[in-house]
Amino acid sequence: MRIVVTGSRGQLGSELHQALGTDHEVISLDRPVDDVTSLRIIAAVEECQPDVVIHCAAMTNVDGCTRDPTAAYLVNALGTRNVALGCQRAGAEMAYISTNEVFDGTKLSYLEFDEPNPINTYGKSKLAGERFVLSLLNRFYIIRTSWLFGRGNNFVRKIISLADAQGELKVVTDEVSSPTYARDLACAIGRLLKQHVYGVYHRFSAGLDAAASGLSGELLRPGAGDSPQALGGGVGGLPGG
Ligand SMILES: NC(=O)c1ccc[n+]([C@@H]2O[C@H](COP(=O)([O-])OP(=O)(O)OC[C@H]3O[C@@H](n4cnc5c(N)ncnc54)[C@H](OP(=O)(O)O)[C@@H]3O)[C@@H](O)[C@H]2O)c1
Repeated sequence: MRIVVTGSRGQLGSELHQALGTDHEVISLDRPVDDVTSLRIIAAVEECQPDVVIHCAAMTNVDGCTRDPTAAYLVNALGTRNVALGCQRAGAEMAYISTNEVFDGTKLSYLEFDEPNPINTYGKSKLAGERFVLSLLNRFYIIRTSWLFGRGNNFVRKIISLADAQGELKVVTDEVSSPTYARDLACAIGRLLKQHVYGVYHRFSAGLDAAASGLSGELLRPGAGDSPQALGGGVGGLPGG
């Protein structure tokens, strides 16, 4: 397959290259030339003539989205619309990477059939992106995941570097989620794309449910994190948060 990846320098995008590059032709569309907020991205996608576009590019800083809702909607909602329009013109499938943050976190586990109810700007803007995909395309995967970690800036690295810098940490105790290993998710997406069974999917690393506070404690345990273990991608409900 010819696969276009947006945001290919991010945590998930870079793992997708590793996971899919051997069996498929993988083409990256990245800033500054291929900014998803520009309408030029529509033609850029079409020109690649992809079989599928995996749309990872997003404004992922949750607090940043709250501070600047205009930027959040521009990238996460309208950017996704633009990429979907490119897929429409190219006759390509689209895999849109979405988030557990489309839910309100009032229960511990969510199914694909649960009604989204985002409570922050990040979740609202990602849900707006989902709605563009649903309304513009017939052949799509909406893949919701949670707490990605891999190469790059993520919760795990933040905890370790803050602890190094400050010696002690204050961590919220009311956030529970499933940390998801980016490489596992990339492999799970590769398997999904072979099936052509379209729809909404929840994908996260199984058996890794964690509270932010507990995860921080575990990461800071002497010797922890020396050899991150790859876990298989899970299917099912996503914890909120
Ligand atoms: N991180 C998480 O915990 C998490 C959880 C659930 C779902 N997700 C979703 O999973 C996907 C991948 O997340 P990630 O953690 O891999 O993200 P990431 O590491 O933050 O990378 C985001 C990528 O998007 C690119 N990007 C941002 N704005 C752009 C724009 N206007 N035009 C083109 N590219 C742009 C960035 O480019 P630059 O390199 O130029 O900045 C970067 O390559 C996202 O859709 C995110 O919403 C993430």
